[in-house]
Amino acid sequence: MSQDAAKQAAAEAALQYVVPGEILGVGTGSTVNYFIDALARVRSTIPGAASSSEASTARLKAAGIEVVDLNDAGTLSIYVDGADEADRHLRLIKGGGGALTREKIVAAASRKFVCIADESKLVDVLGKFPLPVEVIPMARSYVARELVRLGGIPKLREHCITDNGNVILDVTGLAITDPVRMETEIGLLAGVVTVGLFARRPADVLLLGSPSGVRELQR
Ligand code: 5RP
Repeated sequence: MSQDAAKQAAAEAALQYVVPGEILGVGTGSTVNYFIDALARVRSTIPGAASSSEASTARLKAAGIEVVDLNDAGTLSIYVDGADEADRHLRLIKGGGGALTREKIVAAASRKFVCIADESKLVDVLGKFPLPVEVIPMARSYVARELVRLGGIPKLREHCITDNGNVILDVTGLAITDPVRMETEIGLLAGVVTVGLFARRPADVLLLGSPSGVRELQR
């Protein structure tokens, strides 16, 4: 089974969590694209979706699914999104697709966060995947220096301006043994908009696609 087929299997499995009659939150990325394709088949059962990126908004609309402003949606029953890494406590690294800020907002506004991924994303310790940090452009150098002070090696993501007009520093070399603490510490740096650690609000369900089927981990 290819990695794409594993992503698609996890995405299809997430359909069971969609609550008929309720708006849901939709993340960003190639795994979520499979989920949007699956959601299109049941679009008549939901009033719409709150989107985490311009890219997902365009795909949802193309699939005939109404996109709802999160401000008008109230608390969402579920949020479905992918991840770059996940540990067994369902803490995540996200932001490989650059949508981490809106993703964190929609996740925070949702009762249940269903994470979909292929099994290669499951790790013992987070941090092999470079940690994305979205930064206000004028704070780029300051935040980079602070990240070095924390033991990281920040690299400006080239040709990337986020949907919010900011830049992203991808940070390698961090020992993320305490993800909640690191999320707080980096998040408090002046100029940081969002750090791509989802540990304070981890996923509630992790659906991992693999050749032997879809494995479900609960928190
Ligand atoms: C985007 C994300 C994605 O969820 C993450 O990058 C995983 O992407 P993919 O499903 O393409 O592997 O956080 O900001």
